[in-house]
Amino acid sequence: MAKMEVKTSLLDNMIGVGDMVLLEPLNEETFINNLKKRFDHNEIYTYIGSVVISVNPYRSLPIYSPEKVEDYRNRNFYELSPHIFALSDEAYRSLRDQDKDQCILITGESGAGKTEASKLVMSYVAAVCGKGAEVNQVKEQLLQSNPVLEAFGNAKTVRNDNSSRFGKYMDIEFDFKGDPLGGVISNYLLEKSRVVKQPRGERNFHVFYQLLSGASEELLNKLTLERDFSRYNYLSLDSAKVNGVDDAANFRTVRNAMQIVGFMDHEAESVLEVVAAVLKLGNIEFKPESRVNGLDESKIKDKNELKEICELTGIDQSVLERAFSFRTVEAKQEKVSTTLNVAQAYYARDALAKNLYSRLFSWLVNRINESIKAQTKVRKKVMGVLDIYGFEIFEDNSFEQFIINYCNEKLQQIFIELTLKEEQEEYIREGIEWTHIDYFNNAIICDLIENNTNGILAMLDEECLRPGTVTDETFLEKLNQVCATHQHFESRMSKSSRFLNDTSLPHSCFRIQHYAGKVLYQVEGFVDKNNDLLYRDLSQAMWKASHTLIKSLFPEGNPAKINLKRPPTAGSQFKASVATLMKNLQTKNPNYIRCIKPNDKKAAHIFNEALVCHQIRYLGLLENVRVRRAGYAFRQAYEPCLERYKMLCKQTWPHWKGPARAGVEVLFNELEIPMEEYSFGRSKIFIRNPRTLFKLEDLRKQRLEDLATLIQKIYRGWKCRTHFLLMRKSQIVIAAWYRRYAQQKRYQQIKSSALVIQSYIRGWKARKILRELKHQKRCEEAATTIAAYWHGTQARRELKRLKEEARRKHAVAVIWAYWLGLKVRREYRKFFRANAGKKIYEFTLQRIVQKYFLEMKNKMPSLSPIDKNWPSRPYLFLDSTHKELKRIFHLWRCKKYRDQFTDQQKLIYEEKLEASELFKDKKALYPSSVGQPFQGAYLEINKNPKYKKLKDAIEEKIIIAEVVNKINRANGKSTSRIFLLTNNNLLLADQKSGQIKSEVPLVDVTKVSMSSQNDGFFAIHLKEGSEAASKGDFLFSSDHLIEMATKLYRTTLSQTKQKLSIEISDEFLVQFRQDKVCVKFIQGNQKNGSVPTCKRKNNRLLEVAVP
Ligand SMILES: Nc1ncnc2c1ncn2[C@@H]1O[C@H](COP(=O)(O)OP(=O)(O)OP(=O)(O)O)[C@@H](O)[C@H]1O
Ligand SMILES: [Mg+2]
Repeated sequence: MAKMEVKTSLLDNMIGVGDMVLLEPLNEETFINNLKKRFDHNEIYTYIGSVVISVNPYRSLPIYSPEKVEDYRNRNFYELSPHIFALSDEAYRSLRDQDKDQCILITGESGAGKTEASKLVMSYVAAVCGKGAEVNQVKEQLLQSNPVLEAFGNAKTVRNDNSSRFGKYMDIEFDFKGDPLGGVISNYLLEKSRVVKQPRGERNFHVFYQLLSGASEELLNKLTLERDFSRYNYLSLDSAKVNGVDDAANFRTVRNAMQIVGFMDHEAESVLEVVAAVLKLGNIEFKPESRVNGLDESKIKDKNELKEICELTGIDQSVLERAFSFRTVEAKQEKVSTTLNVAQAYYARDALAKNLYSRLFSWLVNRINESIKAQTKVRKKVMGVLDIYGFEIFEDNSFEQFIINYCNEKLQQIFIELTLKEEQEEYIREGIEWTHIDYFNNAIICDLIENNTNGILAMLDEECLRPGTVTDETFLEKLNQVCATHQHFESRMSKSSRFLNDTSLPHSCFRIQHYAGKVLYQVEGFVDKNNDLLYRDLSQAMWKASHTLIKSLFPEGNPAKINLKRPPTAGSQFKASVATLMKNLQTKNPNYIRCIKPNDKKAAHIFNEALVCHQIRYLGLLENVRVRRAGYAFRQAYEPCLERYKMLCKQTWPHWKGPARAGVEVLFNELEIPMEEYSFGRSKIFIRNPRTLFKLEDLRKQRLEDLATLIQKIYRGWKCRTHFLLMRKSQIVIAAWYRRYAQQKRYQQIKSSALVIQSYIRGWKARKILRELKHQKRCEEAATTIAAYWHGTQARRELKRLKEEARRKHAVAVIWAYWLGLKVRREYRKFFRANAGKKIYEFTLQRIVQKYFLEMKNKMPSLSPIDKNWPSRPYLFLDSTHKELKRIFHLWRCKKYRDQFTDQQKLIYEEKLEASELFKDKKALYPSSVGQPFQGAYLEINKNPKYKKLKDAIEEKIIIAEVVNKINRANGKSTSRIFLLTNNNLLLADQKSGQIKSEVPLVDVTKVSMSSQNDGFFAIHLKEGSEAASKGDFLFSSDHLIEMATKLYRTTLSQTKQKLSIEISDEFLVQFRQDKVCVKFIQGNQKNGSVPTCKRKNNRLLEVAVP
């Protein structure tokens, strides 16, 4: 969305007045009150026309953000509330677009915020000017020159923790597009006395503290320095640490800045070496030594420090030592050497330190200039920024204050000149008649100081150069003579009798009425400071140093270039540089920033009116406003003026068609503003009195309120109407929808009611028909029922009658039969015997039995013994007969069946029968043996030649020949053996070789034991004491256990006529040699398949697991 262009003005939301020109009434009190009011509302900037007054807030305000930069960028000066950015923007645009060189003059007392202001201006310009790698580097170098110069030129004072102790003027150069090309810095009058002595509560230049705090151990060692501040006489200790200042960090910042600005590493090191040398110079102390001529000569107390300085700087120690003890004065061709006393030696030491440092500072400025100077020769546009000490009025004012205040007089003068000039130029430009402005011109004061023939500076120089004894007093005397009549010069001793009794004016002082107030100067030190004497021996010693930087700082020490002429005095040097500066400034368009310090405590929120009042006075700010208001207080281009006030007149509101000027004329006529209150320029309207402007503003405010009310009224009406229309429309829609819904609902209701009624009627009708039909049906049914009943009754009656009739007939017949029987029996009784009934009974029985047998003959079942069929019984009384007959028949057919058997078959069946008697229902293995024929000789010994020997050994008939498993009694494992049973013996032979292993006569076999389960294990117990029993009983397992046991039993019976005992039990004892072992059968798991396993559990137990 495009940003809506809102035309604003300085006059909008103004706190107090943003421009002092508009102050009404104008006096000191209203001026201060206005400043205070704005300060209390964080408005630290206020204008006097195009001059910006800045009150130091002593805290960071959020008014310098990049957004603020954007706000002020390309806006008119009066468009937004007063700001240093507005001034910077105006200056930069006028430089870029109108090709006018600019200078920004920042003045104010120490701590008022000049340096901060100059940095803000530079950073604003850097932010809004062109961009690009090269341009950015230039910008960065320009900005980074500040920390370097601040480290060497700033110090903590009681007024300001970062007080600039030098004046600085910087020209920033731009190309035709407004991109920065480079810059030139000029420095003025470094306060070098600070190097050797600092007032109470202040400290030396920052760099000394930064070096000692921030340098690495290595660097300190190289410079033969110690970190402890107290080691150095030149460093004041009482305020060596400044709150909120990290010297070590700042040291790094400075080194970094030096690098960015373009210092080579060796250059930066040389600079630090000079700083170290200055520090160490302060530690050189002197002692008096009497000489033959009775005069005192100074000698260095401890030469260690001197030695280190000389090593650091590459100066011959003896040369420097001599320079501290002697002074050579050359006059014409003569050289006169005089000794220095201790006081002179200290003076010489301090002078050397001061000179070394101040020259180093100037060298630094030149070196920076070399780096930042523009690289092209094309014409440049220039913006100068002057950050120079403001007017100083202390209790003790000396040469420095005199010089500073002189500089400020000059600045004030060009301010007046330029402001008036500008004002006048504008009037001419706009075609307004020039009216004379009454103001104080301080040219007369400048003249008092700088006049070449009788100015104070000229007098001082004259006095310094004069042969003979020159003291500060002789200088004052001279002033008293020359300047006595000057209006602005005051002295007790002057010829004019005006001040003879003025006790506020001590004898050793003179007073000057500066434009900003009276200042009393102590004359003491003026001559010395102006002379700024450094003994030639010292400068020559310095020139001889092998340290190139130091050597270059003292060119006058070169004996080849010896110059007997005295160097220019400090005063004349300063005068010359101020003159150059003024010349420079005059060619430029000035912009003023007047800095004001609100309190002495460096504290935020405190506004000390007395202090501010003092500053306003000496900055001449009221004067400034008066000059500005002398003609017309306010001026504005026609377009914005018409735009701002057009609502005050019907013809111009809302739109004025013609030229803006005509519009303004119409407007002012309509408002009946007196003619003398304004004038029409070419492009601007000039308003004489702020009151008129405020009247306009009030009217505008009033009108705006009316307009706002009107807009509100129309808007509210429109809003209500729209709202009403919307409501109405909505209401109709809702009603329509509601009606539709209601009708729909009603219709549904009627429809469902109709359906209900319909269904009721239909039901009622149907029920009615049903009732009729039912009635009809019931009638029919009733008739049928009645008829049925009637027929039934008829039938029953008939039946009853028939039954009665039949009973009667039957009764008649029975009676008749009985009667006949009786008659027959009576008739035939005489023909029958008494037992005829029995005979008839027997006969009948005979007949029935006969019939039974005859029928049985035909129904006989088959002759198979297993045929279970048998005809059913025909008569109950023959039941037992029938069963007996069945039994007899079965026995008979069994006999018939047996009779068919051969002898061998008979034997087999006998054996099977025997087995059945022995094992049926006793051993679980038995049922599986029933179907197997008993073969006896499973192993055909006769046929196998392997067993020939065995066969030969046996003469008897072999009943069983079979391979069995003989269970090893020791471990339950088994070995195969041939088991042979003959008529008399039981033999065991090796299966492979057929060799007989044991032979037991059957008489020695006492018992066979086996389990009741489905296994083939059996034990053969032997008679105790028999030969065979010596090895113990046998335990075997065989697949044909039943057959073997049966055959063994039968054979034993037939041979010994004794029944072999067969024990069937799941636990029995077996004799193994001496021991009896229990063989126990358990139901094992299926793990080993269906084969029973035998395991020796312990000495007494052999366990057989049967699956
Ligand atoms: N605009 C400002 N916003 C916030 N603080 C400021 C501003 N201006 C000045 N200050 C504070 O005031 C202190 C003094 O300001 P500055 O060093 O600019 O004074 P000065 O006028 O240059 O003094 P001197 O003449 O001693 O050099 C700064 O260190 C800073 O803390
Ligand atoms: Mg400063």
